[in-house]
Amino acid sequence: MLNDEPLLKKLFSVFADPVHSGSESIINPFGKGSYYFFLVISDRKRVKPFFHAEREGLMEQSDYIKEYLDKTPVSNKLFARAQKVMPGGVSHRQRYFPPYPIFIKGASGCKIWDVDGHEYIDLWMGHYALILGHRPTIVKAPLEEVAGLGTHWGILHEYEIQFAELIQQTVPCAERLVFGVSGTEATMHAVRLARGFTKKRVILKVAGGWHGANNDLLWAIRSPFDKPESAGVLPEVANYTKSVVFNDLESTLQTIYEVQEDLAGIIVEPVVGAGGCIPADKGYLEMLRQETRKLGALLIFDEIITGYRLALGGAQEVYGIRPDIVTLGKVCGGGTNLGVIAGRGDIFSLCDPTIKRPKGESVVVGGGTFSCSPFSMIVGYKVVEYLKNHEKDVYPRINQLGQKLREGMAEAFQRNGIIGKSIGLGSLCGAYFPYESETVVKSPTQLQHLTDVEKLEQEFRIRLLNHGVFVVRGGGAISFAHTEEDIERIIAATEEVAREMKKNAP
Ligand SMILES: Cc1ncc(COP(=O)(O)O)c(C=O)c1O
Repeated sequence: MLNDEPLLKKLFSVFADPVHSGSESIINPFGKGSYYFFLVISDRKRVKPFFHAEREGLMEQSDYIKEYLDKTPVSNKLFARAQKVMPGGVSHRQRYFPPYPIFIKGASGCKIWDVDGHEYIDLWMGHYALILGHRPTIVKAPLEEVAGLGTHWGILHEYEIQFAELIQQTVPCAERLVFGVSGTEATMHAVRLARGFTKKRVILKVAGGWHGANNDLLWAIRSPFDKPESAGVLPEVANYTKSVVFNDLESTLQTIYEVQEDLAGIIVEPVVGAGGCIPADKGYLEMLRQETRKLGALLIFDEIITGYRLALGGAQEVYGIRPDIVTLGKVCGGGTNLGVIAGRGDIFSLCDPTIKRPKGESVVVGGGTFSCSPFSMIVGYKVVEYLKNHEKDVYPRINQLGQKLREGMAEAFQRNGIIGKSIGLGSLCGAYFPYESETVVKSPTQLQHLTDVEKLEQEFRIRLLNHGVFVVRGGGAISFAHTEEDIERIIAATEEVAREMKKNAP
């Protein structure tokens, strides 16, 4: 029940008029007279209304939203146009944030420029993919090579073997591999392989873990974890995709033993990325390795973020744990569309088309029409080759910058009396705002229940944008193009933002 009269009046006035009245090109995304509802969220300290268009109306009153609106009129206008052709103005919902996202017109190194003429230091780096920065010089020559060859053949060529060999040499568990075009597709195939190989049904995933939008894994991403994430995903998925609490040995073991005989595999990101940039405890991954082996199930590392990022051999090298299957993407695509499923040779023999098996006994794994395009094979190869040849320069530097950023952000919060923390591993960095200062987040479950996610995703993000830094989830991924100075500038921006947040705290 909401009985705050001035607030209600404000809400209804938001509905009576478009959010940004006065400009025909800027519209209320939900339109006049749209349905609305109040979801009351209690965080023990306050009870507040939480919704979408209405919230934007309220946010407009905040100092930081006003500043953002003033600074980004061209983005605002483009967003209104985008909304007329794409639902919510986007083709990937992670790219939307209220009141509207910035639109960019160019990028180089670690910098991006928006359509309103502002420069930002980018920490998002193309969904964490661009480890060498935007437009690194080393991809210029391969792009020219591709331009002379054609972007798509659909027939075998030597570049794909060359790239596959390089991945085989650099990723410890990659005895065999298949190329596809996205991470979503790679994790879908990994699940199918695990079920096909073990002839068992249940896959365990981490509550809050994101493995792309395939039907098997579009489950237990946002709390409440026992409800479907999306209409169109059958609730029955929950019978065969079950979730566990990350880093919680006891409850995870209990779930493993509830499933036991029917456990096909466990899929886990060694550093949960979209779920909050949370590193696994080594003991947790060791336990998963041990238990899956004991039960004849497969351990799948989703290294679509951590692969070639934490180290050349990814998280499996850093943690010293070899999964049965790994999924890769992002970094090794070098900015092109790539997904890779790799792992044990005996598992991958199930999808070998030269081996004749009775129908239904082999596993269908295929990257589809655009798999192994010369574009992704040549560009991806060049980037991974560079990482291999410069391993000793790239990883120590980006990891050290990551450490510096995490420490600098945490200190900025502390100095300004903000209950905020930094989190991450290597070049991956995030932040969170716990309700209680002693909270230390070890799982996406805790992040979603014990911290103010809205403050992170809206106030912190927009205030940092106003100070020239583009973050997602309070951070992102550092590239080899970032310098000490860039990191210092991000820390200085965080300091300013923390000061503003303190000053404007309710
Ligand atoms: C860990 C992880 N797995 C899978 C995916 C899905 O990859 P894609 O967006 O390429 O489909 C993502 C994407 O963010 C990811 O972070």
